[in-house]
Amino acid sequence: MATDSNRAVGVDIGGTGIKGGIVDLDEGVLLSDRIKVPTPAGAEPADVLTAVKEVLTRLDVADSDIPLGVAFPAIVKNGQTLSAANVSKKWIGFQAESFFEDGLGRGIRFANDADVAGIAEVRYGAAKGQDGLVMLTTLGTGIGTALIYNGVLIPNAELGHVQRAGKDGDAESYAAYSAKERDDLSWEKWTKRLQWYYTYLEFLFSPDLFVVGGGVSKNADDFMPLLNLKTRIVPAVHRNNAGIIGAASLTRG
Ligand code: BGC
Repeated sequence: MATDSNRAVGVDIGGTGIKGGIVDLDEGVLLSDRIKVPTPAGAEPADVLTAVKEVLTRLDVADSDIPLGVAFPAIVKNGQTLSAANVSKKWIGFQAESFFEDGLGRGIRFANDADVAGIAEVRYGAAKGQDGLVMLTTLGTGIGTALIYNGVLIPNAELGHVQRAGKDGDAESYAAYSAKERDDLSWEKWTKRLQWYYTYLEFLFSPDLFVVGGGVSKNADDFMPLLNLKTRIVPAVHRNNAGIIGAASLTRG
């Protein structure tokens, strides 16, 4: 049963949407509706803060002391955001954790969005009990990656930004779900790009399991069977909610 001590709120800030929910930390499931608001154009800090407040208000937890975890689509180190691929450049070298804490009037736990999705899948999902190296990738506006070795997260992997030899641009600009939409690619054509990406990651890291998250993981049947890899590849059990659940579960350390 969900009691006050095993509930937390998770907010997952993405390049396109800001999603939140109340999470049962024992079971790793949503106890509330999933609330989603669009990421404000330009994703400037003040506007993102306003949108996060709206999510908390709609979850009816804006004035509660329920623990709160927030995930962000950038390198996060010691509470600072250090990169900004799909958000305003103002986040680079920004004290984001204390900015949210001051603006929301409460303490938060704060980490990279792909890392928290990885934590969710290790604690409650596709990577639970998996030995060796798990690589979680989120295919969305960008490509996020989490490396988990024997259950321990190696944070801020940023492998969506590996460069394509001899080509302009990085993996995420070529193979993220946003690239499928931008270039109006069929599942087959997009999967050819993913084939390049996962083959490259496989060569670099020899992982034991790939987990695919992000919104498109709900369409796993349309592209995953088309991939030909040595490594087992599975969709995130929590699909696009892995970020919310993982952000909430940060509050358990
Ligand atoms: C960012 C990562 C993030 C990923 C998914 C990338 O552009 O650099 O930090 O995890 O997008 O949102």
